[in-house]
Amino acid sequence: MDDVIRGSRLCVVLLVMNLLSMGSCAPLTQVAPVITMEQLLWVSGRLIGEVDTYRIPLITYTPRGHLLAFSEARKHSASDLGAKFIAARRSHDGGYTWGPTSFIVDDGTAPDGLNLGAVVVDDETKNIFLVYTLCAHYLQCGVSSVMVTNSSDDGITWSTARNISHEIGTKMFAPGPGYGIQKKFSPKKGRLIVCGHGTLDEDGIFCLLSDDHGNSWKKGGNLEGLPFKQQKRSGDFSPDECQPYELPDGSVVINARNQYFYHCRCRIVAYSTDGCDTLPLENVRFDEGLPDPAVAAGALYKGGITYFVNPSNQAHRVNLTLRWSFDSGDSWEQNSIQIWPGASGYSSLTTLSRHIEDSENIYIIYEKGRQDITESIAIVKVNLYGNI
Ligand SMILES: *[C@@H]1O[C@H](CO)[C@@H](O)[C@H](O)[C@H]1NC(C)=O
Ligand SMILES: *[C@@H]1O[C@H](CO)[C@@H](O)[C@H](O)[C@H]1NC(C)=O
Ligand SMILES: *[C@@H]1O[C@H](CO)[C@@H](O)[C@H](O)[C@H]1NC(C)=O
Repeated sequence: MDDVIRGSRLCVVLLVMNLLSMGSCAPLTQVAPVITMEQLLWVSGRLIGEVDTYRIPLITYTPRGHLLAFSEARKHSASDLGAKFIAARRSHDGGYTWGPTSFIVDDGTAPDGLNLGAVVVDDETKNIFLVYTLCAHYLQCGVSSVMVTNSSDDGITWSTARNISHEIGTKMFAPGPGYGIQKKFSPKKGRLIVCGHGTLDEDGIFCLLSDDHGNSWKKGGNLEGLPFKQQKRSGDFSPDECQPYELPDGSVVINARNQYFYHCRCRIVAYSTDGCDTLPLENVRFDEGLPDPAVAAGALYKGGITYFVNPSNQAHRVNLTLRWSFDSGDSWEQNSIQIWPGASGYSSLTTLSRHIEDSENIYIIYEKGRQDITESIAIVKVNLYGNI
């Protein structure tokens, strides 16, 4: 009841705003997402390029209006450790067909190889950046490095990766997993922001910032875990894997994994009003409307609506669910939709609306299985207004 009232009040406000811009209010009240397409992009089990396991899916739109999907191709086991490729596939037709897998990065035989990661599009220069970490677990390697490869041809070819730890230092930083953003509103309009987390003990989240289109990077402010720089245990405060998105008021919201279930078995939500120069503790809340088993989840702001996807269960990675909010994530509509009842792990969201106008669809990429989340990576196309 409360939601309906709030929703309709927002609608009136938007209607007034839209009358000025010749828009329409209809989409807000008509949100009724339906799955219009689903397929598996990667299947584990040494079937594709003899890769043992595909995990950690990322997805982005491209400057030319296409879709690009990435994952970790774990060569020898399902472990976070070990040697990997970065696998990539692209779609030119709104996700219906996908080109073959290309392995765009190869870490050789590293015992603590690469970990994804975040992809971020610079909409001004049309450059796409892919950020990943080497030696995130310090296993037989002394120094952790953050690497960035870029593509200036819509994701077809990729540069030799650059080691930005020269600029940001060698404190472990694990980006995403998910997408980075470019600020569309002031303050810091045009800034590239890639958020992630530190080691489990020193955990906490912070973002990498670039104000010169990815030529140089620096660290933004930290949201530290507690107890500070100590081994954590169940119940401690440890914000972890996270996804940023920008609201029209220029604030950046960071939706984060609550690793040790501080306060709730639900998501941590932090926001920054200075483009992630700082992540103040007073801007942190716990979203009981988003129950979560401690996992990497997807969030996206599009056309006045905030979308969120995760395995909606407080204990297990099952029940992948899409939710939406008409009030910037303050509350979530009751009629969520289930994407997959079974094993479902990490997920991420994107949309093509920024360049090729597509106000109707969003895309979900996620780890999907019958028994285990490591079985495959699936892509789902969702029509937001029930149009099949
Ligand atoms: C990346 O740069 C850091 C800092 O200069 C260095 O310690 C590290 O060895 C470099 N990593 C790689 C893979 O070259
Ligand atoms: C993108 O990669 C190319 C090739 O390595 C490099 O010359 C260029 O500086 C990179 N651009 C950015 C913005 O990082
Ligand atoms: C799946 O998520 C929905 C929405 O949060 C919830 O009502 C339902 O109980 C969940 N089911 C399981 C098995 O977790």
